[in-house]
Amino acid sequence: MREINASIPFDKRLWKQDIAGSKAHVTMLAIQGIVSGEDAQAITEGLSRIAAEYERDGVPVNMDLEDIHMVTESRLAELIGPAAGRLHTARSRNDQVATDFRLWVRDAIDEVDAGLKALQQALIARASEHVDAVMPGFTHLQSAQPVTLGHHLMAYVEMLKRDRSRFADARARMNRNPLGSAALAGTGFPIDRHHTAQALGFDGPTDNSLDSVSDRDFALDYLMAATQCSLHLSRLAEEFVIWASQPFGFVKLPDAYSTGSSIMPQKRNPDAAELVRGHAGRIMGCMTALCVTMKGLPLAYSKDMQDDKPPVFEAHDLLGLSIAAMTGMVETVTFRTDRMRALAESGYATATDLADWLVREGDIPFRDAHHITGRAVKLAEERGVPLSDLPLTDLQAIDARITNGVYAVLTVDASVASRRSHGGTAPDQVRARIAQAQAELEAE
Ligand code: ARG
Repeated sequence: MREINASIPFDKRLWKQDIAGSKAHVTMLAIQGIVSGEDAQAITEGLSRIAAEYERDGVPVNMDLEDIHMVTESRLAELIGPAAGRLHTARSRNDQVATDFRLWVRDAIDEVDAGLKALQQALIARASEHVDAVMPGFTHLQSAQPVTLGHHLMAYVEMLKRDRSRFADARARMNRNPLGSAALAGTGFPIDRHHTAQALGFDGPTDNSLDSVSDRDFALDYLMAATQCSLHLSRLAEEFVIWASQPFGFVKLPDAYSTGSSIMPQKRNPDAAELVRGHAGRIMGCMTALCVTMKGLPLAYSKDMQDDKPPVFEAHDLLGLSIAAMTGMVETVTFRTDRMRALAESGYATATDLADWLVREGDIPFRDAHHITGRAVKLAEERGVPLSDLPLTDLQAIDARITNGVYAVLTVDASVASRRSHGGTAPDQVRARIAQAQAELEAE
């Protein structure tokens, strides 16, 4: 029982929030005349001493005392005597833990947000170096149309922007104070929940005591935002893994984020990227774990809910590592833009430009233009040359409406420069988006 019951091995991570919550609670109790000013002061000073002890020596893992709330209260009794027993007036561990955990998740969100902002900044910095660097853009992992590396990197800045906004939404939604809901029904003591809410930086108290002690939406909101964020990091990681492979050769990953092989001396394995990809699976697992824990619980608190913390802590640690590793990789990776350009030029990636030219200059319906272009690509393939190397006479044999002007759109540079629609890959568009994204981050 002792082992299955205790949460102290993991909920000791809540100690700062637990002490902050207790201080706010006892201050309010004194203001409301529920405990004496003298007792409240002794309790507050005792809590400060305990905080200093925890800071210095860590939280003692006493399995008999079950959780961080009991460990702290029992230490308080050792330090200040019987007055310690007044702290838990008009409070239950049910609203206490709900409060502590919300405060913890709120801090976790602030940490993640700072990390994601740094990753956005790293991506923007690398994107600005490579606004004009042409690379193959892919669909189905087949060369599709040329894009620029700057545009490709900026795609991730957009994803991270949405991730940050999801975390911000979650933070705004969770920022209500459950303290004072007591065990489940509220309390008969004349407490002031607005006071503790303000002291703890909440926007106000929660409005239903049963909901307050049963609700773990804030933890799920965090895990869902973390999951979606980890999916984005994993896709970037996957691209690094592919790009670092010899057949692609688009990047040289920094030594600091790669490892060698114990048997193959030539190897440089993209371990950090692979682990970011792997961690996404575990983070999603944490989210699933808590969803399944919560789905069958009747109101109000059930002990199953103690199992809410390990998945959130685990996901947070994995996400923090993933963001840090990805930021380091983005900052230090070497992009082999010559190789990217060579592959962009060899994959008939400007076929759409030829078709578009036929539509524009020859007034040919797009479907016919598509067909004509298909024949040109087939001929170029047979000869083993890029489209731009087909002589005009051969192109005119396919369709007499083709003129010399077509060669201007068959280079990859002309192709990317032409894609000036809002959000397109044209370097001037990408430059504008980079400037805007930088301004957005600076304005925060
Ligand atoms: N250790 C518990 C948890 O983490 C604290 C709340 C316990 N409440 C109770 N009634 N047993 O959920």
